[in-house]
Amino acid sequence: MIGTGRSDVQITITGLGAHAPERRLTNDDLEKLVDTSNEWIMERTGIRERRIAAESEALSDLALPACETALAQAGLTGKDIDLLIVATVTPDMAFPSTGAILADKLGAVDAAAYDLSAGCTGFMYALAQGYGMIAGGLAQRALIVGGDVLSRILDWTDRSTLVLFGDGAGAVVLEQSDEPGFFAFELGADGSGGEHLWLPGSGSRLFDDADKRVKMNGREVFKFATRILVQSAQAVLERAGSTLDDVDVYVPHQANVRIIDHATKKLGIPSERVVINVDRYGNTSSGSIPLALAEAQADGRLQPGKLVLMTGMGAGLTWGSALMRWTKDVP
Ligand code: ACO
Repeated sequence: MIGTGRSDVQITITGLGAHAPERRLTNDDLEKLVDTSNEWIMERTGIRERRIAAESEALSDLALPACETALAQAGLTGKDIDLLIVATVTPDMAFPSTGAILADKLGAVDAAAYDLSAGCTGFMYALAQGYGMIAGGLAQRALIVGGDVLSRILDWTDRSTLVLFGDGAGAVVLEQSDEPGFFAFELGADGSGGEHLWLPGSGSRLFDDADKRVKMNGREVFKFATRILVQSAQAVLERAGSTLDDVDVYVPHQANVRIIDHATKKLGIPSERVVINVDRYGNTSSGSIPLALAEAQADGRLQPGKLVLMTGMGAGLTWGSALMRWTKDVP
């Protein structure tokens, strides 16, 4: 799916927040759990440490502070929100949705609230859906949340997946604005590659040997990731009539520094325009892009007028890009 949305409606991000749990798990810590080394993890992934939720923390606990920060930045309260979407593959539970739980905690009593599942691409899908709901006149102010507690579904004896992932969440407020915000989205899915990254036994399909822990064919996912980051970025830019030279801030899914470097070189984006925080958070799935956006805002890279390109990709296999002009000025 690719589109530029409605030319007569301008929608942008007016608030942004992120939150990661306190506990840091370093590569040295992992060396004590599985047969791995700091050198191997650094060389193959660029990840130094990741954050792991406490036993008492579920996704809604990580997402709540992120939502509160995003609402405060937008100058809103929960009562102002009429749409709340949580992109995740690790909700607090299958039902009630984490969207409904968060809406209650935030006092978003007028909001339609639900969860959306698109693997690590979930945040990009949810952004596009929020955009569409506002553009279609169904919603005025949307809170779009992306987050995961992947530590709960990892196989803590599998070194090939354990070292890659971490926990975290982020949120943005979407609203109509006087200036142009989002220009185009490109979203896609290729279910034929689903078996390369999956969680058998987590739903209604019965498996003989399912143990409800993440399984991944790393080489296939690597090939997919490096190809799709480039293709999707080029597609959304072309659709919006922009070029890579126009892009000021590039926020790719934070899966692995090698994957990001590969895409960045192929696209020809100078490294100073690329946001990378996977070294400190690992792959936080749906939390990845909003966490990276929040970091870029905190360090001053996300300034009003900057053209921002975001691309997510993950289980499904799925992918999604968006191109927008950043409009929010934070004093
Ligand atoms: N420590 C030490 N050795 C390891 C580890 C580890 N943590 N993990 C695997 N190895 C070993 C393997 O067993 C293998 O050993 P062998 O040759 O004796 O069989 C060797 O290292 C090489 O394994 P490869 O899988 O070929 O290593 P590769 O260079 O492909 O790197 C990696 C593996 C990092 C997983 C890479 O394939 C990758 O990054 N894939 C993409 C993964 C990803 O990003 N997934 C998520 C994206 S989508 C989403 O976000 C949900």
